[in-house]
Amino acid sequence: MDLDTRYPALSDLRARARRRIPHFMWEYLDSATGTETGMVRNRAALDRVLFLPQVLKGEVTADLSVELLGCKQGLPFGIAPVGMSGAMWPGAERILAELGARHAIPYAMSTMATRAPEDVADVVGDQGWFQLYPPRDPAVRADMLARIKGAGFHTLVLTVDVPASSRRERQIRGGLTHPPQITPRTLWHIAQCPAWALGTARLGMPKMRFIERYSEHKGALPSTAHIGYLMRIAPEWDYVEMLREEWSGKFVVKGVLDPEVSLRLKDAGVDAVWVSNHAARQFDGAPAALDCLPGIRAAVGPEYPLIYDSGIEGGLDILRAIAMGADFVFLGKAFHYALGALGAAGAEHLVQMLTADLRANLGQLAAEKPADVRKAVVSGV
Ligand SMILES: Cc1cc2nc3c(=O)[nH]c(=O)nc-3n(C[C@H](O)[C@H](O)[C@H](O)COP(=O)(O)O)c2cc1C
Repeated sequence: MDLDTRYPALSDLRARARRRIPHFMWEYLDSATGTETGMVRNRAALDRVLFLPQVLKGEVTADLSVELLGCKQGLPFGIAPVGMSGAMWPGAERILAELGARHAIPYAMSTMATRAPEDVADVVGDQGWFQLYPPRDPAVRADMLARIKGAGFHTLVLTVDVPASSRRERQIRGGLTHPPQITPRTLWHIAQCPAWALGTARLGMPKMRFIERYSEHKGALPSTAHIGYLMRIAPEWDYVEMLREEWSGKFVVKGVLDPEVSLRLKDAGVDAVWVSNHAARQFDGAPAALDCLPGIRAAVGPEYPLIYDSGIEGGLDILRAIAMGADFVFLGKAFHYALGALGAAGAEHLVQMLTADLRANLGQLAAEKPADVRKAVVSGV
């Protein structure tokens, strides 16, 4: 039986991943913060976007490629930065970087990944984006930027929606601590996931390899307190301006919901704004990220590149975000559900599934390009 027959939807991959990722890591991957109503709101906002099916338009062949920041991307979606990616599935970073290169879609690597940019440079091709949690120390910053550029990553993404660490109660309940500790309970979780355990034994204990050079906690995962010391989690405007000057490649700011801030970022020379509420992992009281898109689009004008993430679960969701004003969409959890379910084959299967779903829905809307679906929207936010 082929993968499409056994796992036709993301929900199938998620259900299998839940059994194969140790519970404490699963809760880190799957949870939002607070009562998780922010996550529910993200879903509800996507579901509100409806289109009128287009009939009697003849045959239309869809072209899924899109232009983004001067690059031709094979598909209108990419792989969002996920901290500790390789702790959710062994080798995740290299698998996803290689996947990005193969499909000509961006792979955005997190500062908190379990691999450094140098570790994936040979597979990421020209699809490397790097997500930065900004370091305090200028010398550390200069060194980080040089390493990122040296490894061939051309687009820098500054994440600004983590001014304080969030509680993520489900994650706490699941037993994940900072730094992670091996307890009888976590050992029991690991014992139930032999493929994860064997892969992790083969590749070694996950570490934050990019930041370990700057960390006193070499050989172990740093604590949240230490990360807070190393990283300036709540940067101000002058930090954005400084990075804009220091980084010669494309520069994106991620985690913005405010039209005024978006316009100011555009005026400050930022190449794209990434509209996101971090999948409601940081703050349970924010609006659905999708609901913020139309206002931001109106503020920055029709030509300025806008990226969207938070809650995307299929091809139709990608089109919904594009219809509300995004030019490009990223997915975070979905790629990790796919890896947890089936490893590298799962990540490839997810791309195939999203592509097929995009084609099926574009067909209903007689749309040749993803952006053409905007003409068919009947209700949105
Ligand atoms: C487990 C996990 C870890 C994440 N770590 C980071 C990170 O290190 N940096 C960052 O900018 N965003 C991080 N994010 C947020 C994602 O980049 C993205 O905004 C979000 O996951 C998109 O929503 P989705 O997962 O519903 O697709 C993380 C998300 C998850 C699920």
